[in-house]
Amino acid sequence: MLSPERPTQVLAADAAGIARAAYVLGEGGLVAFPTETVYGLGADARNGRAVAGIFAAKNRPTFNPLIVHVPNLDAARSIGVFGPEALSLANAFWPGAMTLVVPLARGAGISDLVTAGLDTVAIRVPAHPLATKLLEAAGCPVAAPSANPSGKVSPTTADHVLDGLGRRIDAVLDGGACLVGLESTILDPGPPARLLRPGGLPIEAIEACLGAPVQAVDVEAAGITAPGQLKSHYAPTADLRLGAAEAREGEVMLGFGPVQCDLNLSEAGDLTEAAAGLYGALRSLDASGAAAIAVSPIPETGLGRAINDRLRRAAAPRPS
Ligand code: TXA
Ligand code: MG
Repeated sequence: MLSPERPTQVLAADAAGIARAAYVLGEGGLVAFPTETVYGLGADARNGRAVAGIFAAKNRPTFNPLIVHVPNLDAARSIGVFGPEALSLANAFWPGAMTLVVPLARGAGISDLVTAGLDTVAIRVPAHPLATKLLEAAGCPVAAPSANPSGKVSPTTADHVLDGLGRRIDAVLDGGACLVGLESTILDPGPPARLLRPGGLPIEAIEACLGAPVQAVDVEAAGITAPGQLKSHYAPTADLRLGAAEAREGEVMLGFGPVQCDLNLSEAGDLTEAAAGLYGALRSLDASGAAAIAVSPIPETGLGRAINDRLRRAAAPRPS
């Protein structure tokens, strides 16, 4: 499925840029915009044609469910049903890097393409001032996966968006680099709460809020197939070798902590800094043309879980 070529407007992070982006969304167009996690490729979630355009532009092979972005909890409650657990999580962590999967509200008006026909909907209130202003100005729920071709590394700058989707989308709102750098944590609030995707909000914070452990879901057993849960995803062109102590012949080294390497995610061993730079680092090492990227071990705590999740998928055998 190919979308027709079109010029992609780069919009400035000012009132005129936001107004233009909101207008294009209202007309059924595709607008990439910054969130604190990664850039999203937005369309009016009520407009099936516009949402279909997201799948075409990304070359997504199948119609997987998308996250709906809204400016605040009130707007979220008009499309999803929030029980007590969902409400405490929303109050604690929104706006922020957490997506809640809740029952779809009656009369929500969300396109079936967004929910993939499920009776649940994934909702997020992003914490980026430009995203908030855009969502307020658009006045509609905005479906937005990461703004990259399917299977590739997610974008954390407007240039990354243009590299992957230039001439396939109507506009990108340029808000500079994303602060978190990893997609949101996706949660079914339960009870019991279930983790559907590790991400920018550490699971430890969620467990502290709920006062209960969060179960990891075996997504394949649960029968939900979605890109962020495919074994091979977020993949650079080069092969990845994880848990490496040092680079071998022909490899470039992505380091973490005090190690010899070509690029260091965080010399100080700071996981927040590492998350913010991860996708940009994979892109630039990939651009070096090396056949393989060796990656230092990353601790499996806090944001390290989400970093390791993305690295494992990037390292997985690719479908041919
Ligand atoms: O940080 C983020 O979450 C970014 C920014 C743009 O907000 N968005 C993002 O969207 O990563 P996307 O489309 O790549 O991730 C959508 C994921 C799917 O892979 C699936 O796991 C989950 O959301 N999802 C959506 N609707 C669902 C549902 N009804 N039930 C279970 N999972 C769902
Ligand atoms: Mg994605």
